[in-house]
Amino acid sequence: MSEQQERKPRGWVLSSPPRGQAKPPGPCAMVIFGAGGDLTKRLLVPALYNLACGNLIPEDFAVTGVDLRDQDASEWRESLLDMLRNFVRDKSSEAHIEEINKEAWERLASRMSYVQGDLTKPDLYERLQEHLDQVARDQQTGGNVLFYLAIADRFFATVIDHLGKASLASEDAGWRRVVIEKPFGHDLPSARDLNKRVLSVLKEEQVYRIDHFLGKETVQNIMAFRFANGLFEPIWNRDRIDHVQITVAETVGIERRGKFYEKTGALRDMVPNHVFQLVAMVAMDPPAGFDADAIHRKKADLFCGMESIQPEDAVRGQYGPGVVLGEHVRGYREEPDVAADSNIETYVALRLHIDNWRWAGVPIYLRTGKHMARRSTEIAIRFKQAPFAPFEATPMEQLPPNWLVLRIQPEEGISLQFEVKRPGPVVELAPVLMDFRYRDWFPPEPNVGYETLIYDCIIGDQTLFQRADQVEAAWRIVQPVLDAWGSQIAADFPNYESGSDGPAAADALIARDGGRSWRPVTPPRQEAEK
Ligand code: BG6
Repeated sequence: MSEQQERKPRGWVLSSPPRGQAKPPGPCAMVIFGAGGDLTKRLLVPALYNLACGNLIPEDFAVTGVDLRDQDASEWRESLLDMLRNFVRDKSSEAHIEEINKEAWERLASRMSYVQGDLTKPDLYERLQEHLDQVARDQQTGGNVLFYLAIADRFFATVIDHLGKASLASEDAGWRRVVIEKPFGHDLPSARDLNKRVLSVLKEEQVYRIDHFLGKETVQNIMAFRFANGLFEPIWNRDRIDHVQITVAETVGIERRGKFYEKTGALRDMVPNHVFQLVAMVAMDPPAGFDADAIHRKKADLFCGMESIQPEDAVRGQYGPGVVLGEHVRGYREEPDVAADSNIETYVALRLHIDNWRWAGVPIYLRTGKHMARRSTEIAIRFKQAPFAPFEATPMEQLPPNWLVLRIQPEEGISLQFEVKRPGPVVELAPVLMDFRYRDWFPPEPNVGYETLIYDCIIGDQTLFQRADQVEAAWRIVQPVLDAWGSQIAADFPNYESGSDGPAAADALIARDGGRSWRPVTPPRQEAEK
């Protein structure tokens, strides 16, 4: 049997291109603040391990964990290895780690060291300085250091101040870069303050504001899809697009994060960061090149064109009890560390306008929520109807629309819905799908979503990171809604059942515009095929 027959792809093209020829980056040390935290164990170290498996960590590399916990390097390494073993045992884990590659793990683990200390105290930074000097001598890391702040956001500015005072941010002997996790501020004034403090110590080129959605292959692919094909860009505008719906539906609830969530809510947690990154990918103009500057410029232009969202264009929801994926679950107000009369939203739907030539008059509807019926992140683009339909059996108003759906997760792919003639003697139309699925073409790679992002920090590519003005623009756009929701006393919560598609008010928000409706949250393939 030929190779082509064996692979049985479902699309048209019969061979996939070879993987990119990425090389190990140059020497550096990586310092992880928050070495004992969840982010480090579940994502950062597994991502480093995956890079090690692909020979994509530097030859001269060192990883130093920093945390308050009193432990030594071997205990730290053991706790990290335990987490990798859990991934192997948990077949449903999205890390896709089948078995531990001992050689790769040992190569990484042999470069790991640990410094115990309190990140609010100057002595930690003095010891870290000495430690890094030693590491540079032993591991030949050349004085290059990537600091990763995998810590609670209230410590971001403190750590950066200390790095500055201890001269750890100075680039006299090698580069120094700092990765800052989300949330970057909790509203526009706090994001501005944080940027000011960060930029009083670091230059913008040293700052990597991370949004892990940009680490997803399917999100990066949006640019390839739009700009590597001549087919779509000519129709990617107000002339042919009726509206866009972006959905980030989660089946998980707040997952033991009551304290965090009570201060945050769905709007802050998801919209100015993850959801707006999806908007940017789908709505920005084509950049002149694929370098960070060119892309940041186009994103900045786009954000300038986005009006701030007014409260009448926003709907909030909070889940009550219900059944999610067959399991009975409690309502948000019954979750640990949540107030019994909490006004915090776990769902948000918004209507966004972009005032520019491409998008004027094309609403972008956004929704994201927890404890929804299904997990699905997708961008659905609805095209305008054909101007005239010469079919007797199907009058114009009954013609189903064309949808292009970019499926981000958990199904990864792209589908295009269009009309065909149903076989038979009469001309009757039927909607069908042209469907691309990643897994039909590319074997699943072990990937936790941080591999590319970490690799890019080490090679100094800021394309997938956010510039200072971008985070501020994002907060500016949601600020009127934050203000309104923060000042209203009591919301009518809970207003959607766990396991549903969200509150009825969200349906009303979209129906207001000429009777539009949300697309049903895409069922997973197996369910749809039943
Ligand atoms: C995080 C949010 O940033 O993103 C979580 O704090 C959310 O509330 C998560 O669940 C979603 O990310 P992913 O990659 O699981 O879709």
